[in-house]
Amino acid sequence: MPQTLAFDVYGTLIDTAGIVRELTGLVGDLAPAFSQRWRDKQLEYSFRRGLMGDYKDFSVCTREALEYVSRETSSPLTPEQVTHLMACYRRLPAFDDAREALPKLQAMGHRIYAFSNGLAQDVDALLRYAGIDHFFLDIVSADEIRTFKPDPAIYRHFITRSQTPVQQCWLISSNPFDVLGAAAVGFNTAWVRRNPALPFDPWGIEPDQISASLTELEHAAGLH
Ligand code: LAC
Repeated sequence: MPQTLAFDVYGTLIDTAGIVRELTGLVGDLAPAFSQRWRDKQLEYSFRRGLMGDYKDFSVCTREALEYVSRETSSPLTPEQVTHLMACYRRLPAFDDAREALPKLQAMGHRIYAFSNGLAQDVDALLRYAGIDHFFLDIVSADEIRTFKPDPAIYRHFITRSQTPVQQCWLISSNPFDVLGAAAVGFNTAWVRRNPALPFDPWGIEPDQISASLTELEHAAGLH
């Protein structure tokens, strides 16, 4: 039976490590660690702003995280370099398995959405740059209700926007915090375990599906 699939964007469809090449020109060998730290800090800032009720959109979290890591690593960046990196952050590559899986899942009749903390215009730019935008019925952004995943309100907002009973909603994400957030609201969940070295959070709740890549998803129980 066709389901409604809510795809997380950063880290699930789109490879945020794609920024490493640009960073290498600026910070040399530090680039992979810098990129990871930037991503971690970006998420931390969104979580903290959510808890504080001090909403600033995800691009602000991303830019402030970049400035933090630049200070932390004593890698000063000029305002022009920050602007350039932020522009590059809207032109990141899709994972190869996203390109393979999306047409198959669409052909199976599933309703496919991008569901992200990112601004709709940033997500739209990313999906277009990656050439995968035409698979999506719509983009549901946390910015629409000025909060961030894993606030339960944003998962409920997705249900309203997609007009789907939660029993037919799947959250597909590589981010354990996102999987747990969706599960708490009753979504079916698929965790894409992109890094086999990282375990799932031991919160006593398991994803309904675990797959090493998006291509395995089409065989997931409940999706075929
Ligand atoms: C997103 C981030 C949290 O796309 O991965 O929502």
